Formats: sequence, structure tokens, C-alpha cells
Amino acid sequence: MKNFLDLARAGPDLVAELVTLAGRLQRHPEPDALRGKVLGLLFMNPSLRTLASFQSGMARLGGDSFVISPGSSWNLEYLPDIPMTGAAAEHVREAIPVLASYADVLGVRAFAGGKDLVEDLSEPVFSAIEGLCSVPLINMESAANHPCQALADWKTMDDEQIPKANGRFVLSWANHPKPLPLAVPAAAAHMAAMRGMDVTVLRPQGFGLPSDLMQRIHTAANQSGGSVTETEDREQAMDGAHVLYAKSWSATDVYGDAQADRDLRAGLTGWTVESDWFDGADPSCIFMHCLPVRREVVVTGQVLEGPRSRVIRQARNRMFAQMAVLYRLLADKGD
Ligand code: CP
Repeated sequence: MKNFLDLARAGPDLVAELVTLAGRLQRHPEPDALRGKVLGLLFMNPSLRTLASFQSGMARLGGDSFVISPGSSWNLEYLPDIPMTGAAAEHVREAIPVLASYADVLGVRAFAGGKDLVEDLSEPVFSAIEGLCSVPLINMESAANHPCQALADWKTMDDEQIPKANGRFVLSWANHPKPLPLAVPAAAAHMAAMRGMDVTVLRPQGFGLPSDLMQRIHTAANQSGGSVTETEDREQAMDGAHVLYAKSWSATDVYGDAQADRDLRAGLTGWTVESDWFDGADPSCIFMHCLPVRREVVVTGQVLEGPRSRVIRQARNRMFAQMAVLYRLLADKGD
């Protein structure tokens, strides 16, 4: 494994190996495995879990890390050949090789611009930096992907013994005051399809996942024996569900139009996850969310702190999943 950018690029066998390795490192710590190695973390956007779990995971493996946080460094340009007369004082063409020269592995977070759907789906920042990085590169959330979250979520479902074949995974749009990126919903639905589950995307009119992302999810389901459907009928979606994964995302029909997005979501206050959403679900159905989450907007505190919620375990699994990625990239390259 040379980089960790996308579960689809890693492939099902390697993902399964990483989940197994994450569990092994959780049960049997290896505090010297990465001694002398340095992890560089470049955040172009804020983080709580990703930053803390990468630093903690690297320390638990005996390595060290440095962090570049948004606001604490230069704004970076990624577009080629434009006069840099705006806010960006440095180009990724210099910044990435410099940071790679200090580190043995580099993680980068670069969210979607949120203005142009086609551009965001093209992963403009990662497309610009992948070829510039001389050390292994990790996607810590890009415009349309969050493979570290997806890997941790896969482990969380394995830990909970959620079935793969015939396991019913519902990704539901949820209420939120702002348009949010597509990265987590796209990664979560793709991961569940790759795991062989029957995936239902539950969303209101105007919030369908883009066809490119749905195609990726369908391809993963076809390869794993899973399935994918889309609906706005909650009762139908939740019937027999094993997992309800809630997340808000932008109104894709009016992507980049803030006023039209506000108008669309104004009538969607019924999309706050409440206890009665689980009425028709499998009795063991769990609630998942990647965090951060807005209480009483995305989900009630009662669900969030109730017996179905696994949100803290998901966040904890970020650390073990990323330890497995770092271990595989630096200690046991496999290939
Ligand atoms: N889930 C997640 O990536 O959390 P942060 O944005 O806090 O890193």
C-alpha cells in the first residue's frame, strides 16, 4: 500500500486486512512499531477527532507528529499557473514537497469548495497534490471522500456484529442549518455497499446523491453482493434496518446556491432523528454519526445518549483504524 486515499482504490481485501489489523493493535499494543517515524498533518479545514486521533494513534505506535492547522499557517493555492494575488501566500507545489521532506507519511484535509459540484467531485486539491508528495499520502477528508471515517465505521459495525450479507444500512439525510459537504455520506454509503450490505439512501427531494457518487456505490454493491436503493419514504427505509447512519449534506439540485439551499431545507424540520424513527427497525438497530453533531437539530439528545447510539465508539475507532493505516504504510508495507 503506497497511499490511503479511497477505500475503492485500496480494494476489499486490503480493507478487510486493515480492519483486522486495527482490532489487533487495539487488543495488542505495539508501542515501538513506528519509533523514529514522523507523521505530518496538514489541515486546511478544522478538526477535532481526525487531528487528535491521528496524533494519539501515532504516539501509541511510538512515532511522532507535527500539525499545520488552518489559520496558523499560509493559505495555500492549488490551481495551476494563476497569478497569486489573493489570500493564498504559498502554492501546494512548494508546500507539499517541503512538508513531505520533514515527514515519513503525510495526512491532508481539504474540504469541498461547495460552489461547483463538478469541480468538487473532481477532487481538485488531492488531484493537485498526489503527484507532489514523495512520502505516503493519507486522505483525512477531501471534497467527496472520508476514507479514514469509513474504515473506522466498518470496524464499528464488525465490532457490533452487524451482518454483512442481508445487513440493512440506512444512510439518512438529516436536518442542519448549513449546507455540508458530501464527503461523509458518500464514503459511508460506499463503505456499507463494499461491506456487502443492502444500502438505502433516505433523503428528501432535492438532496439526491450525485449520479457519479451513486454509480460508485452501485459498483461496490455489485462487486460485494450488496444492493443500493434511494427513497424519501422513512417507514420503508427503516423497515428491518440494522444501522441508521445520519448525516446532513448540501442540496445537490441547487448546489452552490446558498439561498435556494436555505429555501429547500426550511421545510425539512421533520428530518431530526428521534426515537420513533426506529419503530420498524430491527430490534438491534444502532445509530451512527461521524460527529460533530448538532443536538436537537440533526438528532435528539435522547437518541444520541440512548442505547442504540454508537457515536463515541465510532470516534474511538478512528484511532485504531488510522493506526492500522499508519502501520501498513510504514512498518509493514505488505507489497
Ligand atoms: N468525523 C470527523 O472527521 O471529525 P473531525 O471533523 O472533528 O475531524
